[in-house]
Amino acid sequence: MKKFGRLTGHRVNGNIINLEFENGTGRLEIITDRIINVFSPFESEDHRSKAIEGKKALKTAFTCEKQGAALVIGTAYLTAKVWSDFKVDFYRHDGKTLCRDYRGTIHDIVRRKENDPFYTKRDREECDKTVNVAKALDKKEVLLGLGDKAGFIDKRGYEYKMWNSDVGAPHDEQLAAIYKSIPFYISKKTSGAVYGIFFDNSYKSVFNMGKNSPEYFFYAVDGGNLDYYFIGGDGIADIVGGYTYLTGTTPLPQRWTLGHHQSRWGYMDEEDMLGVAHNMRKYGIPCDAIHFDIDYMEQYKIFTWNTERYKDPAKTLKALKKDGFKTVTIIDPAIKLEKGYPVFDEGIKNGYFATDANGLPYVNAVWAGDSLFPDFGKKEVRAWWGNNLKFHTSLGVDGIWNDMNEPACSKGEIPDDVIFHDENRAATHAEMHNVYAHNMDRATFEGLKEQTGKRPFVITRACFAGTQKYATAWTGDNRSLWSHLRLVIPQLCSLGLCGMSFVGTDIGGFCCDTTPELLCRWVEAACFSPLFRNHSDKWARYQEPWRFGDEVVDIYRKFVKLRYAFIPYIYDLLFEGEKSGLPVMRPLALHYENDEKALRCNSEYLVGEKLLVAPVLEQGASERAVYLPRGEWYDMSSGKKFKGKKSIVANAPIDVCPMYAKAGAIFPSYGEMNYVGEKKLDTLIIKVFRGNGEYYHYEDNGEDYAYRKGEYNKYRFEITEDGVFRGSLVHNGYKEKYKTFTVEFEGKTYNIKAEKEFEIKL
Ligand code: GLC
Repeated sequence: MKKFGRLTGHRVNGNIINLEFENGTGRLEIITDRIINVFSPFESEDHRSKAIEGKKALKTAFTCEKQGAALVIGTAYLTAKVWSDFKVDFYRHDGKTLCRDYRGTIHDIVRRKENDPFYTKRDREECDKTVNVAKALDKKEVLLGLGDKAGFIDKRGYEYKMWNSDVGAPHDEQLAAIYKSIPFYISKKTSGAVYGIFFDNSYKSVFNMGKNSPEYFFYAVDGGNLDYYFIGGDGIADIVGGYTYLTGTTPLPQRWTLGHHQSRWGYMDEEDMLGVAHNMRKYGIPCDAIHFDIDYMEQYKIFTWNTERYKDPAKTLKALKKDGFKTVTIIDPAIKLEKGYPVFDEGIKNGYFATDANGLPYVNAVWAGDSLFPDFGKKEVRAWWGNNLKFHTSLGVDGIWNDMNEPACSKGEIPDDVIFHDENRAATHAEMHNVYAHNMDRATFEGLKEQTGKRPFVITRACFAGTQKYATAWTGDNRSLWSHLRLVIPQLCSLGLCGMSFVGTDIGGFCCDTTPELLCRWVEAACFSPLFRNHSDKWARYQEPWRFGDEVVDIYRKFVKLRYAFIPYIYDLLFEGEKSGLPVMRPLALHYENDEKALRCNSEYLVGEKLLVAPVLEQGASERAVYLPRGEWYDMSSGKKFKGKKSIVANAPIDVCPMYAKAGAIFPSYGEMNYVGEKKLDTLIIKVFRGNGEYYHYEDNGEDYAYRKGEYNKYRFEITEDGVFRGSLVHNGYKEKYKTFTVEFEGKTYNIKAEKEFEIKL
């Protein structure tokens, strides 16, 4: 561990406190009164942030004074005490300890007895060679976050790595690295205090979440700077707000993207695509999008279309569009090495590909065989890529699915010293690997935005902190396993805590053969995941609901319809989330963090604040225990009321997913439709539950950026305990408006003319 030595001096320069130690320099930068950056130039004087765009530091009052051996820096909210060896301790304005640096030695885990010849108790190797940070843990401190790691909501006791990895093996809690790298965790102390730390460094890193010792967390990273943001706040939601203030929020997507998507690797040709679309309508299962996996391409060459399988791709897409389907095409980053293939030729001519240490284009292999890797860190490469997307947008494609962008390769991992770029600066693969997808997603987002003027729909498999600004994500190649169904909740909720709100899993599981029961339980569990797509592997059995008989079709249809009813609710959450950074799917921890049972709950989730979903996650079960946090809750199917802070047993035969509305909940909803845009949205159904509550609902064109110029309507709805329901239009910016509100309350329905203000007694 680097020894900075004694703190010998400091100098305040604007919002930066420069620190001098015997053996190095460092600094603290006040970003806001709740966010402080801790930095030491191990590699460079620059932050070189790939996640944070623009200046985030706000003018913030702070004090800085020497108190004994420590330098004490205080904002209205946080106090940081800097000591020798660049140890920093953080406290809250009320004196509560938030986070102290750990001062002891970091040991490797002990696996054998002392008298075993293989016994070692050595110091952790990384800690000698790399940038590292260790934070003291208290006994019951709970550690959340880290993006898509395939573990639990509470990551304490495990070790994870940040290194974007294409994992074919089953995903489970012991898997150190998976597709995405989000070096951000949130801590909930035993005292009730919370904090978050975002390590703004893209190199491969280790997050030891108290696995080696109950006394400390440690972080070690292979290169770059010591560069982290300490985030304080009054609750977990505040910490998420702080993190997304830095790295950006998930922008509002187009409305149709919240519909049901169908995909499969192995839909080979036009007949398959039109067939699946036809069946969706035939079976009355609402569906908005069909995805084209790699088989649509000519020899897996990016920006080509196989015209043997599709005589006229534009015509195929048109036929789908006519029936209300949007189309999404997969794209991989690697470009086939083939002279005469224009994308390859252009890339070579302009130096757009990553090179080896001798400056020659670096070659590895992906689907198309030997291939090269566009250097997306360069602005001109992103522009070139974006421009190439015209191949898709001009055919009428509506969304782009970025796969294999870890980047995945089939001839071994790319060596660390392969040269990529961070804008104009040459940088190694070791530095750029974790942001490869991020830059590809950015290129895709910018290209689509420019060409269509609509909110781009980009799906990504890999990502880094901040990618939420550019892409929605799915969790990659899961399997048709019950353990992977159980993973849906902690994995998506942890992504949500890290700013990635628009996320989903492959419904039914990607690899292996699903079962009728598993498929039903999956569509139930994922009913509110913002990305709602059934996708499967070409070696797996067909996974569309009609392959499993009438009962499955009925259940599947029931939940897809439920999903469509709730699209306006999910859309509202995304509208709000663009400002607040809060996700759609939330762990109970987000709203009930002082309730120990809720804090570590892996089997239930909240949609927004007032809808609790407790899907059945066990094969063969027809009931389950549901923990209801404080407050009063209504069973959404029976209307029965329960007092919270206790567990109940919910009856849940195969066609039931237990769901609860909190007293005073108001959910906007749509009537039946086959796809978004099929019908004019003249009527808004409002489901109301007795209690005191208010709700804001947004109405806009659902497609472009006009809402950012104020072209939207915002309604405020309110319900009181005694059944008075009020509504008012509080922002009037979009011409088309609902004509009717249909209020559903305690089994009765009330139709109200959509006036600017109204009040009724229910
Ligand atoms: C990867 C993707 C998967 C896709 C397949 C073929 O495994 O994760 O979703 O179907 O590649 O493109």
